[in-house]
Amino acid sequence: MDHDELKNAAEQAADFSYAPYSQFHVGAAVLSADGKIFSGCNVENRSYGLTICAEQSAVTAAVSAGKKTFSAIAVFCRDSELPVPPCGACRQVLSEFCSSDVPVFFAGKEKIYEKTTIGELYPLDSLHNLKK
Ligand code: THU
Repeated sequence: MDHDELKNAAEQAADFSYAPYSQFHVGAAVLSADGKIFSGCNVENRSYGLTICAEQSAVTAAVSAGKKTFSAIAVFCRDSELPVPPCGACRQVLSEFCSSDVPVFFAGKEKIYEKTTIGELYPLDSLHNLKK
């Protein structure tokens, strides 16, 4: 599965990004275990620390619709030459709802997606790795 629909959803969400301070427009999409796509964008604030990342918007949309298990993630930034992976805080947030084998696709403006996994981005996650 190449997850084109998921990537398209992340790309479309980036167009809704509110990023007047960074001009870094990011979109993200999560695929729920039952096959639905939820997307989100970064939402900045003039009090910079209150900014919400695209990944966190997408997770919030999915959980608010009753979805708590994800099977793939896509992140797209239309302003970056290089692919943009989730930031550290987003790795923690994603790890709450993803097992370590969940694929993460991320791209910059060229839309050439890198592929990694939650486990590579966030090893030794206490929720999923240490409870056994
Ligand atoms: N940003 C995201 O939305 N996701 C990421 O993975 C990287 C960073 C946003 C936060 C801020 O609005 C802007 O990009 C610049 O850091």
